[in-house]
Formats: sequence, C-alpha cells, structure tokens
Amino acid sequence: MKVCIVVGTRPEIVKMSPIIKELVKQRLNHFVLHTGQHYSYNMDGIFFKELGLKKPKYNLKIGSGTQGDQTGRMLVKIEQVLMKEKPDVVLVQGDTNTVLAASLAAGKLHIRIGHVEAGIRSFNRYMPEELNRILVDHISDYLFAPTKNARRQLIKEGIDPKKILVTGNTVVDAVLNNIKIAKRRASALRELELVRKNYMLLTMHRQENVDNKKRLSSILKGITLLHKNVKMPIVFPAHPRTLKMISRLRLKLPECIKTIEPVGYIEFLQLEANASLILTDSGGLQEEACILKVPCITLRDDTERPETIEVGSNALVGTNPKLINKFGTKMLRKNTDWGMPFGDGKAGIRIIKAICHDF
Ligand code: UD1
Ligand code: UDP
Repeated sequence: MKVCIVVGTRPEIVKMSPIIKELVKQRLNHFVLHTGQHYSYNMDGIFFKELGLKKPKYNLKIGSGTQGDQTGRMLVKIEQVLMKEKPDVVLVQGDTNTVLAASLAAGKLHIRIGHVEAGIRSFNRYMPEELNRILVDHISDYLFAPTKNARRQLIKEGIDPKKILVTGNTVVDAVLNNIKIAKRRASALRELELVRKNYMLLTMHRQENVDNKKRLSSILKGITLLHKNVKMPIVFPAHPRTLKMISRLRLKLPECIKTIEPVGYIEFLQLEANASLILTDSGGLQEEACILKVPCITLRDDTERPETIEVGSNALVGTNPKLINKFGTKMLRKNTDWGMPFGDGKAGIRIIKAICHDF
C-alpha cells in the first residue's frame, strides 16, 4: 500500500501531523505532497520544523490566487504527481482549496480518497470551505468523521454508512502530543509581557469577515468595547490575509489590540492555554479552546463545530459589537468543566488502521 498525504495550509499541517507520524512509526510506504497554498515561513515551514516532520517530497508552490485560479492550478499539478507516483490512497484533511483539488485529481484517476474531518457542515454555502467539504465528502471512499454528529450528517446526505468511521478529530492528537513541549518551553508570555489568565487571544481570517468592510469594522468595534469593559490586554497573531485587507479597506486596528506576526504551533499553544478568553473565527481554534479548557467566543453567524456550543465551551456571537461585549464578558466568567466532544487523541492511529485493513 502506498499512501499520499496532501497538505496545503497551516491547519492541514497541524491536523495531518499525527497521521504522518503514525505512518513513519509503522514504516508504511507514504509521501507528502504540499500544494504550497500557504508559503510564508510562519504559515508553513515553522510547522514542519516544530512538529518534527520531514520536508514534503513535493512542494507545488501554488501560492495565492482567486478561488478558481488557485484551485485550477493545483488540480493540474497534483494530477501530474499522482500519475507519476500512483498511490493507492490519497488522504486529505478539512475543507481548503487544496483538499478539493487533490480529491478531484485523485478521484478521476480512480485513486481512493480518504477525507479526514468528514461530515462537518456550517450550512452556509457562501463560505468557500462549505462547498469544498460537501463536494469532497461525496467523492470520498473513506469518510473519517470527527464526531457522531458528523456521521449523522453524512448519512442524511445519502452517503453509504459502510464508508464512514467515527475517529475523533486529529486536532486532539496534535494538542496532546505538543502541549507538554509547549509547557516546558513556556516563554511566549514573558516575551509578550502577558500575565497568565489575564489576557485575551484573538485570531480572525475568514473571507466572509475580513474581506467585508462592514463586518470587519463591526468586529473591531466589539473588541474595543469588550476591552474597555474588562480591561484586559488583547494579543492578535494576525493572519496575512487580515493585515492585507485592513490596509486595502483603509481600516485601523484599535490600539487596545497588540498585533504580532503569526507564531509557530508551540508558542501558539502557550498563548491559547494561558488565555482567559479566545476570540476567533477559526475552525481549529474553536476546537483547541474546547480541548484546552479556555472559553471561546466565535465571531461568525454559524459554525461547523456545534459540539463546542453544546458542551458550553463556545458562544456563537456574530459580528454585532454589543453581542461581542455581552458574550465576551459572560464567557470570561464561564466554568470550564465541560466534556470533550472531539475524541481521545487516537484518531491518527484509527485512520491508519482503517486504510491498512483494506490492503
Ligand atoms: C485558507 C483556507 C481556509 C483556512 C485558512 C487557514 C481556502 C478557501 N481557505 O484561507 O479555509 O481556514 O487557509 O489559515 O482554502 N498569504 C500570505 N502567506 C501565506 C498564505 C497566505 O501572505 O503563506 C496571504 C495572501 O495575501 C493570500 C491570502 O493570505 O492572498 C489568503 O490566502 P489563501 O490561502 O488564499 O486563503 P486563507 O485566507 O489563508
Ligand atoms: N495557529 C498557530 N499560530 C497562529 C495561529 C494559529 O499555530 O499564529 C494554529 C492553531 O493552533 C490551529 C491552526 O493554526 O491549530 C488553525 O489555523 P487557522 O485558524 O489558520 O485555520 P482554520 O482552523 O480556521 O482552518
């Protein structure tokens, strides 16, 4: 059996790392194909280094572009690699353009597709990610659902239950594998002059928020209100997309926000674990906040991680300034004894076992 692991962006590297490590540990034949959708060192290279992963065998250096241009260029180049390498299975993770392009290329070459984190839905087709997830789930051969809820959704959409396996989310594996290292190296707070459990951590990069002047200004207003109210510093490792859009839309980041470059996974886990509150529109952060027992507010109108709302670790607040302030204040006082909806940290092992079983 020969496995091709495809990655393209920061979260894919994090969430595929437990699977790659398991393939290495079991000495299974595999290679990593990186589309290069993310390419800045602090969005890409640093993750391979910190997670102890080898350089990918292929880096297609696709870079940025419009939805169609980026996806199209990936499709052409991924097909070339797959025709040369002839893997038996292609594993993709999540909902990026990389995932869509790799799945389409593999499916048309009759190579089996395994979709890690299958079946999650925001039910908002305005998001490029929602279209990617739906399309990929419907052409996949193995659907690795992170939760029972995701499995139910796939069955509702008519997918054969025999193809679905509930594995938990590999993000739990990644957090558990790296949090001890993060705790040992705990220097991030000192360097940023932050005090444990006395600051808020902000990230945002979703297209529907940061490419929209009205929504982005509204979020910034809400964060300013919350800061005035609770008087805690806010640290913001800013995604390059967000900085680009703030400048293009001629907006200004409020002074209460301490903006820094994106940081590597180990430093970021320290910032997450020690924060009083996480404010985000990221998918991965909603999960990691829940795992690390840090309350979270999500700056979106919908979420494909409803389990976080159900257990009470997350509040969906949208972009209304008053609601950001109200729920931010409320979540800061939240008791953090919620349950863990994303599995036991053995998702990577289960996924490898499932594909090995068929060969
Ligand atoms: C992509 C994914 C999104 C995921 C996010 C993770 C899609 C449709 N979107 O969004 O689902 O949550 O990655 O972070 O696949 N840029 C850089 N350096 C980089 C990467 C990007 O400067 O290494 C800048 C460029 O200006 C680029 C912009 O960020 O145009 C957006 O990058 P892109 O990969 O298209 O989308 P993301 O917003 O990162
Ligand atoms: N992350 C990081 N450094 C940062 C911001 C995020 O290491 O400065 C990690 C975070 O811990 C999580 C992943 O990147 O594992 C989330 O990526 P992102 O928010 O870009 O994408 P999404 O999860 O929304 O697809």
